[in-house]
Amino acid sequence: MSAKDPLYELISKLPKAELHLHLEGTLEPEMMLEKAKKNGVKLPYGGIEDVRRAYRFRDLQSFLDLYYLGVSSLVDEQDFFDLAYAYFKRAASQNVRRAEVFFDPQAHTRRGIDFGTVIKGIHKAAVKAEEELGISVGLIMCFLRDMPESSAMETLEQALQYRSWILGVGLDSKELGNPPSKFERVFRRARDEGFIAVAHAGEEAPAEYVWEAVKLLRVARIDHGYHILDDPILTNKVIQDKIPLTTCPLSALKLNHITPLNRFPVKIMLKLGMVPTINSDDPAYFGGYINENFYETAKAIGLTYEDIAVLAKNSIIASFLPYYRKIDLLNEIDNVVQSSIP
Ligand code: ADE
Ligand code: ZN
Repeated sequence: MSAKDPLYELISKLPKAELHLHLEGTLEPEMMLEKAKKNGVKLPYGGIEDVRRAYRFRDLQSFLDLYYLGVSSLVDEQDFFDLAYAYFKRAASQNVRRAEVFFDPQAHTRRGIDFGTVIKGIHKAAVKAEEELGISVGLIMCFLRDMPESSAMETLEQALQYRSWILGVGLDSKELGNPPSKFERVFRRARDEGFIAVAHAGEEAPAEYVWEAVKLLRVARIDHGYHILDDPILTNKVIQDKIPLTTCPLSALKLNHITPLNRFPVKIMLKLGMVPTINSDDPAYFGGYINENFYETAKAIGLTYEDIAVLAKNSIIASFLPYYRKIDLLNEIDNVVQSSIP
């Protein structure tokens, strides 16, 4: 991609919110190997190129296997701080003004790392990023859906001590075979405690899983949501209730959910009156941060300048920022578009 391409320039200039980003998925091979060495963790890679060569995925599970292997290099509070701060820096450099980011406590607690170690490192990075980078941050704690409900409930209990640092709860990991209904009680408890709820749904599993996320988990946004389009009644509901979708084009491509990229349905979603957003999911693994996701998708499916502006606006509208911050950012998007029209 060329930084001189007017399309990339517009995307770069637009203020954006990133709403679907796993902090652990921003672990670049360089940091992974450096942390593994520091912490004496053995990884089956000879060097950076070896790691990159391994990043060819058949499906979600084949990616998750490497993702969980990679996170084993993270051990102390400083590691979590460094991971998160590196992402915030990168996001700010791409004009992300608001990042509502996921983290996976169980991926760490199940290998003996304290919940406090994880959240303290990430929280400190978020505070520093807000002070020094001009980016606003919200933390969303995800439950690993392939672990038992009891483990999710225990994780929620651990989080209560840090309640004011955490915006919401989410649901990720292996979707097929682990429907939202498995976590209905955990999400009810989380909502009662004031957490907002989101969930990965309809990424690899059918529309039925999205119905459950909406009806049982009462999610405020759906992460991915591609299979909504298979069900016309669900499609109508998502349109009528204006439930935002956090789609991730390069992720869907690299995990073979939607190939080639010119089949990515974000333009269809816009036409139907849905509220899709563009996000990077696990950028260290899928070959691009948010601007690359916008750019590659725009080229593949022919997004217009107007489509791109609507997608940027959707990200602000679908965020959990207070309304006066949303208004400022929406005005800023209008100004950028006005000054960029050829
Ligand atoms: N964990 C990290 N990335 C994920 C994805 N795309 N789907 C489910 N779980 C994940
Ligand atoms: Zn995800």
